[in-house]
Amino acid sequence: SNVPVITIDGPSGVGKGTLAQYLTCKTGFHLLDSGAIYRALAFGAVKNAIALDDVPGLVKLAETLPVEFKATSILYEGEDVTSKVRTEEVAGVASTVAVIPEVRAALLQRQKDFAELPGLVADGRDMGTVVFPASPVKLYLTASAEVRAERRVKQLKNQGIDANIAQITQDIKERDERDTGRKTAPLRPAEDAIVIDTSDLDIQEVCRKAESLLWERG
Ligand code: C5P
Repeated sequence: SNVPVITIDGPSGVGKGTLAQYLTCKTGFHLLDSGAIYRALAFGAVKNAIALDDVPGLVKLAETLPVEFKATSILYEGEDVTSKVRTEEVAGVASTVAVIPEVRAALLQRQKDFAELPGLVADGRDMGTVVFPASPVKLYLTASAEVRAERRVKQLKNQGIDANIAQITQDIKERDERDTGRKTAPLRPAEDAIVIDTSDLDIQEVCRKAESLLWERG
């Protein structure tokens, strides 16, 4: 297609969401937060008491997933579930159902449909490798699990939530293992991705670095 797509992949807590928002502002492109689709599926599975190993049940839900995006909100059956799907618990369920190839296949076209003019910034795990492999600009962000856990704890503290760094580090590592270890669409940089290690960069530096790389690539 002739719609330009910028893909941003990487593990959780690496700053993809913030970078994606920054780049959509700069370019005027649409935004695909693919993790929110997997989180909405997880939310719907729990809500409808669909077992996490009930593949036909999960596929059926995925095919007609009643999720919509409105500005920065995530709506499920019209209800604003943004904060409900942002929990570690929902993330854990999301990464469990995301392992199932039939579930991923059922969500594929839905994600591709976000590519509309003037362009798309797509944030996820397999944007550059599976969903938009022809994208001319692929970014891949990394940082150690410890650095990402520290960032997450800071974020939670700012929201007045007390967090256990050891527990969060362990959650992050478990999710990384599921995301990188799965057979279908594992988390990894595309061959032509630009890898940015964000361990020693703050988010403004990440945004500036990504932006200058985009200018270089045209
Ligand atoms: O990015 P976010 O943390 O919201 O994603 C939640 C989970 O959804 C991830 O841990 C991953 O297992 C799954 N996911 C995926 N493919 C994507 C986006 C998210 O498998 N493109």
